[in-house]
Amino acid sequence: MEYISSKNIFLLLRDTLKLIDRRPMNHGSRVGYLLCKMLECKGGYEQYELADFLMLATLHDIGVYKTENINNKLNYEFKDILPHSVYGFLFLRNITPLDDDKSRMILYHRVPFKQIQGAHYDYFQETTLLTLAEAAEIYHFALGNYKFDHNMFRRQEGTFYTTQALDLLETCVREYDVFEHLNDDSYQKEIDAILEYMIFTNEEKKKYMETLMYCIGFKSEAEVVNAVSSLCISQNLAQKLGLGEEDSEKLYYASLIHDIGMLSISRDIIDAARKLTDEEIALMRTHVEREEKILLNRMDPEVVKIATAHHERCDGSGYPKGLREEEMNTEQFILQVADVVTGLSCDRSYRKAFEKDQIIEILNDEMARNKLNKNITKVFIDSYDEIMAQAKDEAKKTLEMYNILGLKYEAVKAKLSGGQ
Ligand SMILES: [Fe+2]
Ligand SMILES: [Fe+2]
Ligand SMILES: [Fe+2]
Repeated sequence: MEYISSKNIFLLLRDTLKLIDRRPMNHGSRVGYLLCKMLECKGGYEQYELADFLMLATLHDIGVYKTENINNKLNYEFKDILPHSVYGFLFLRNITPLDDDKSRMILYHRVPFKQIQGAHYDYFQETTLLTLAEAAEIYHFALGNYKFDHNMFRRQEGTFYTTQALDLLETCVREYDVFEHLNDDSYQKEIDAILEYMIFTNEEKKKYMETLMYCIGFKSEAEVVNAVSSLCISQNLAQKLGLGEEDSEKLYYASLIHDIGMLSISRDIIDAARKLTDEEIALMRTHVEREEKILLNRMDPEVVKIATAHHERCDGSGYPKGLREEEMNTEQFILQVADVVTGLSCDRSYRKAFEKDQIIEILNDEMARNKLNKNITKVFIDSYDEIMAQAKDEAKKTLEMYNILGLKYEAVKAKLSGGQ
């Protein structure tokens, strides 16, 4: 797939997570910079390998989006380190293309190196550097101690931190003045330059794009199930309408990401079991612009156009642009129908899911009022049972995946807490 570069996939992933809360990703970026500088000092790494480690370090706290109160950083980084480490590991291992060894860096990122010395995986040394990079960043920023103090970390030399990691960090401070670059944000330029070397295979790109959809699960697993349903419905419609391979592919990627902007909307609004106020509706609607902002100039413009038109309507009454039927294309219409159908066929906090007869009645009404494209809505209604059975099937598989992830989470956590 050439719709997005490897670097932009990573930036999109990072910025999608920032929609939930910026802090873990900002912390991660600074840790990533420190780790890369330490690896550079150590030597022996190709640029693309540095880019990989930069990504991994940026995402090292990804688990907190699921398991933690993000305001309580000192708790998850110092006291109860397992939940976010284990969930982050399992998310990367099962949802992204990262392999077991790389993902283990996240599992062990807050563990004293003495405890993982016997663990057999490829990136033990890099993990010990990540552990120190992270701790140094926390002491430097979170605790407001803007002056770097080597001695404080040397006190845990040979127990928590390796001599090699401590030496490398000291060299980085001496030769590159790394904390100064963090203080004045100039590190971001360096990060940007390293990311140019990021290389994913097409298979990996596809998997990372799917990861974007799974990020919705950090807020609500039920919403991932809905996203999977709309994806299935839109692909099915594309096939029935005889869309070409390229158009179907664009629609596929647009369907995956069409609601990632919802991550910026607070749960109070999404879960409100009441009618939303005008102000809340306006806020909810900003999800499309929020996602457009992070997609533009990164993703193929055609894909962005499809994704961001999922709330537009043929009579011009939709949002955010109020586009009219003649300004839109088949892929956009398909995603609109898929999104409406998915919304109607799932439970909401304020109502139960609609039954088939009700859904068809609503769709007929939407066609009559010139909201949804008639041709595509008719194709959907004609194949309702077949399309919805497949969508249900896909939804079921997603729920099963989450169940397994939940079971693994408990099992790995129990194993590690027993071993400590
Ligand atoms: Fe961290
Ligand atoms: Fe952490
Ligand atoms: Fe939406």
